[in-house]
Amino acid sequence: AKKKAWSGRFSEPVDAFVLRYTASVDFDKRMALSDIEGSVAHATMLEKIGVISAKDLEDIRRGMDQIRSEILAGTFEWQLELEDVHLNIEARLTALIGDAGKRLHTGRSRNDQVATDIRLYLRSEIDEIVRRIEHLQDVLVHQAKAGSDMIMPGFTHMQVAQPVTFGHHMLAYVEMFERDRERLLDLRRRVNRSPLGSAALAGTTYPIDREFTAELLGFEAVSQNSLDGVSDRDFAVEFCSAASLIMMHISRLSEELVVWMSQRFGFIKLPDRFTTGSSIMPQKKNPDVPETARGKSGRVYGDLIAMLTLMKGTPLAYNKDFQEDKEPVFDAIDTVKDTLRAFCDMMAGVEPQADVMYRAAQMGFPTATDLADYLVRHGVPFRTAHDIVGQTVRAASERGCGLEELPLDVLKSFSDVIENDVYEVLKLEGSVNARDHLGGTAPNQVRRQVARWEAIIAER
Ligand code: ARG
Repeated sequence: AKKKAWSGRFSEPVDAFVLRYTASVDFDKRMALSDIEGSVAHATMLEKIGVISAKDLEDIRRGMDQIRSEILAGTFEWQLELEDVHLNIEARLTALIGDAGKRLHTGRSRNDQVATDIRLYLRSEIDEIVRRIEHLQDVLVHQAKAGSDMIMPGFTHMQVAQPVTFGHHMLAYVEMFERDRERLLDLRRRVNRSPLGSAALAGTTYPIDREFTAELLGFEAVSQNSLDGVSDRDFAVEFCSAASLIMMHISRLSEELVVWMSQRFGFIKLPDRFTTGSSIMPQKKNPDVPETARGKSGRVYGDLIAMLTLMKGTPLAYNKDFQEDKEPVFDAIDTVKDTLRAFCDMMAGVEPQADVMYRAAQMGFPTATDLADYLVRHGVPFRTAHDIVGQTVRAASERGCGLEELPLDVLKSFSDVIENDVYEVLKLEGSVNARDHLGGTAPNQVRRQVARWEAIIAER
């Protein structure tokens, strides 16, 4: 067995199975480029304070450039015996440049190194996820624009409630994804703090310049306590929490797509490339993408619970447990990115069926509230109006017709304030047009919101 970076005080080599059990290189090699970036910043600082020579720094930079190329080319030889990404890269560096490679780890520990790496890595993934959310919002705003006066039933309890527009419905998701975007940008500030220089846990005896490395790495601030610096994973929990909410929103949208594309609804068509068939039933076209996404929300919630449980009860400062933070965080990143990618494409291809939605909106007396409001405008107290309209709905239901199909004399038998102009109010168009205030479903308001979002998106 090869000599380990830390094996000076050991009398026998580590057990082969224990090595495999405790190694992380299989998954933490994803952070290799961040690890190199952090190491170069650390070396630059060591040179600045006179701990290593200008020649050492030059060798380290050159060695790291080569290692980066090897990793990008896929020729870097990762070795399990070297445990993790950090020791693999350090060993290769020393093989390439000799003693200068052995000086790199001065005033540093893998504990602050790994805490730095995961923050750098997560920071760039957050930026990519934010871009994908913005893309999805753009797609949904386009759908909203095209559907700004497309009437569909709005539901509560899955029962027809009041007519809304398809555009209004799409914009509701744009709002949800905006909060997701804000959450990511907010937690990014807490990701973007430099733990580098915390060393193992207590700091180091060298006169390090933590502000300098933080600046080189684009960190906004430096963590102010070395024990906290190496043991804080709150930011990873926060990320998994924000990722869970993204997936929750995607899952709700998925459920609506599944329902909308069922034969009983027929509200939308999905392009064939986002659906799959059945191996036994030749007629089938199944909404596999939304269903897969709905299912994948569960695994991201699992990542969040794994992170919370992993951190619970761990004493200060670093513990090996923390190595287990990588896989949940990576899984949440991958799942959210893939899901957003699929949804950007798929939502652009959703074809709302305006006529089907309109006919569905005519069923279930969706303008009953409008009739009550009409009575109120003619001096009837709302509770009395509610009761009158309830009786009217019962009459229409018994006749098997809509409210707008009841003759005027029948309507008048329930309240003599009702006149011929009531039919405007009972129409679906009248109903949506009347909800013409900030946040309302009126096509006029939906168009205003679309314009507001278009301006926001153009600014990004
Ligand atoms: N690979 C470890 C991790 O991911 C970092 C190494 C720290 N290990 C240690 N024994 N102090 O957390």
